[in-house]
Amino acid sequence: MLVEFQSVCCTHASSEPVRCLSGWIITPCEPALRQIQSTMGRSRSSSGVPTVVVGLAALLFSNVLIYLYLASLYQSDVQLVSSHIGCQPQHFKMATMKNCTPWLQCSQINAEVRKLKLIGQGAIKKVYLAEWRTQKVALSKLSSLDYLEDFLHGLSMVQALQGPHVVQLVGFCLEEHTLVTEHHPHGSLLNLDVVLAQEQHQQHNTWQTRLRLATDYVSILHYLHNSPAGRRVMCDSNSLEKTLSQFLLTNDFHLVVNDLDALPEVDASRGLLVKCGHRELTGDFVAPEQLWPFRDSGKPFSDDLMPEYDEKTDIWKIPDVTWFLMGRVPGGDLAHFHLFQIHDQCKKEDPTLRPSAVDVLKVYKSVYSSMVRDSVGFRDML
Ligand SMILES: Nc1ncnc2c1ncn2[C@@H]1O[C@H](COP(=O)(O)OP(=O)(O)O)[C@@H](O)[C@H]1O
Ligand SMILES: [Mg+2]
Repeated sequence: MLVEFQSVCCTHASSEPVRCLSGWIITPCEPALRQIQSTMGRSRSSSGVPTVVVGLAALLFSNVLIYLYLASLYQSDVQLVSSHIGCQPQHFKMATMKNCTPWLQCSQINAEVRKLKLIGQGAIKKVYLAEWRTQKVALSKLSSLDYLEDFLHGLSMVQALQGPHVVQLVGFCLEEHTLVTEHHPHGSLLNLDVVLAQEQHQQHNTWQTRLRLATDYVSILHYLHNSPAGRRVMCDSNSLEKTLSQFLLTNDFHLVVNDLDALPEVDASRGLLVKCGHRELTGDFVAPEQLWPFRDSGKPFSDDLMPEYDEKTDIWKIPDVTWFLMGRVPGGDLAHFHLFQIHDQCKKEDPTLRPSAVDVLKVYKSVYSSMVRDSVGFRDML
């Protein structure tokens, strides 16, 4: 008698679930193996050695299949990270371009990039809508030499962190303190409610789009906290408005981080911690460890005495950003209900008790999937 074998795709309990080939079953490895072993045990007692051999061969075969499948997944992920737009490093390609092009240099920026109008201004840069050939781009110019160091730091981070989570660099000119990036017509996240209220975008004003944006936001934090340039803290985020202004809304309603001018590095192994600026921070939006600890005793603020902190300040801010991103749409309250526990953990006074960005990300993804499943089930019932 032949043992009937189901192809099994398994995950280790501690790792993220593995996407399985259609028709395969997702199960944790150990129960799956136990199931196979007990099936084999039953068959051995009834049919003897040949059944065991066939069973082992089938097990080996399914392991080889799993290995090949995971290897192919890993390979495609690596390609995705290293060239999400399919270009070599230091090249760019916008949606309507056929070929990848090397980053523009000073001569090309001066000759070919035409400024059209001012579209944004923060503390460090003036940002203009501009045109390069037939492409719309954003041309950012340093607004004051006082901020040259921040500008150069931001530019080096944008270069080092190019990938799906970061605005695409089109070129830069160090001598003129300019940088050119892909233009995102919806602008920063500050515009989210206005954009989603427009008639042509109203169909996107749903909990699904909004929870996806919140998930993008947490994915970006996870990327910055584990980036190729080390563990980076999103420091330019001392208020909700400031934080929202650093992210751009793409045409397909995803997020990219744009302003990386204040991204200091934390490294526990080198005892490296950070301070976001040299002035006193106030308010509920920033994490408690960012506040002057002697404020109640009346002792005046001193930067020298102000303790340093780490990337858990970004985690503290997640619930407030997500509250804004979810807006007031049907289903939003249910999402908040499901996220209540993880958000409660993000708001722990003690930074070491807060979850990491990847912990938060896992919960966001699972809440999204379960809400989609429930809403499909609910539709089917009607
Ligand atoms: N690529 C872009 N596409 C569309 N708008 C942009 C782009 N880059 C910047 N902006 C707009 O300009 C504003 C300021 O840009 P930012 O880089 O944050 O400047 P700063 O470093 O001075 O804070 C952003 O909040 C956004 O509204
Ligand atoms: Mg900014």
